[in-house]
Amino acid sequence: MAKTIGGKLYSIPQLLKDKQFNFEDDIVGFIFPIYSLGLPKIVQKFLENIKLKSTYTFAVGTYGNMHGPCMYNLSKDFIKKGWRLNYADAILMVDNYLPIFEMSNQLNTVENKHIDKHLKEIVDNIKNKKNSIPAITIMERIFTALVHSLLSKPLDGKSAQKYIINENCNKCGTCSKVCPTGNIEIEDKIIFGNVCESCYGCVHLCPQNAIHLRNEKSNIRFRNENITLQEIIQSNSQR
Ligand SMILES: Cc1cc2nc3c(=O)[nH]c(=O)nc-3n(C[C@H](O)[C@H](O)[C@H](O)COP(=O)(O)O)c2cc1C
Ligand code: SF4
Ligand code: SF4
Repeated sequence: MAKTIGGKLYSIPQLLKDKQFNFEDDIVGFIFPIYSLGLPKIVQKFLENIKLKSTYTFAVGTYGNMHGPCMYNLSKDFIKKGWRLNYADAILMVDNYLPIFEMSNQLNTVENKHIDKHLKEIVDNIKNKKNSIPAITIMERIFTALVHSLLSKPLDGKSAQKYIINENCNKCGTCSKVCPTGNIEIEDKIIFGNVCESCYGCVHLCPQNAIHLRNEKSNIRFRNENITLQEIIQSNSQR
């Protein structure tokens, strides 16, 4: 998404690591995955810390099934901070949430999601400095409150205790390097801390497919073919 939209790219995990929080430019955009119909915790933390000056601001969330009020709520948060979110959109992609979705089924849905077409529309909208924020209905608000009450547990940092490392692990260290919160230490075994975002980056990207969730739908994994493992490491590594 970010590579296609273009401009100078910054990674939120790296900006947090470097405590780089001041942004001033004509156009500033935020691109992130949607978790639990809202923002991932590190994106929230980042937005709480930044100082922003721009004439046109946009945000795009990627999601797998339902984005709910995420983008609308973000526009309200911007107003509370004295900023204006000019344009927000959400783009339907592969749902990588392993406890609910089976990755080979998800991959079969890619064609029907018309990702490239939607992405092109988003790029054109940003170029033309479109002003629009997705609206939400009362039903979406109610559904979101329900989802948040059910999903708050999987998204708490201690969910890492649910990971199982099998005998295929060769201690290559990839899981530790792709973790955006520096939550994984490689010692005589793989040790998870308690700041897990449940992004499942370590699970999807382990070259040995050695990391498993107790409640995963299958052992098939996914990485977007438009981004290399090395790029993910550069964006995420806290080491
Ligand atoms: C912890 C977690 C929660 C998610 N919650 C939602 C959700 O509420 N709605 C949705 O449509 N997709 C949800 N997804 C799917 C992601 O938003 C989607 O796969 C996104 O494209 C992932 O982007 P990434 O590969 O950059 O992480 C969730 C994924 C994870 C890992
Ligand atoms: S990425 Fe997989 S194989 Fe490599 S250290 Fe982590 S769990 Fe082990
Ligand atoms: S990479 Fe693994 S340990 Fe790190 S935040 Fe994501 S799911 Fe949690």
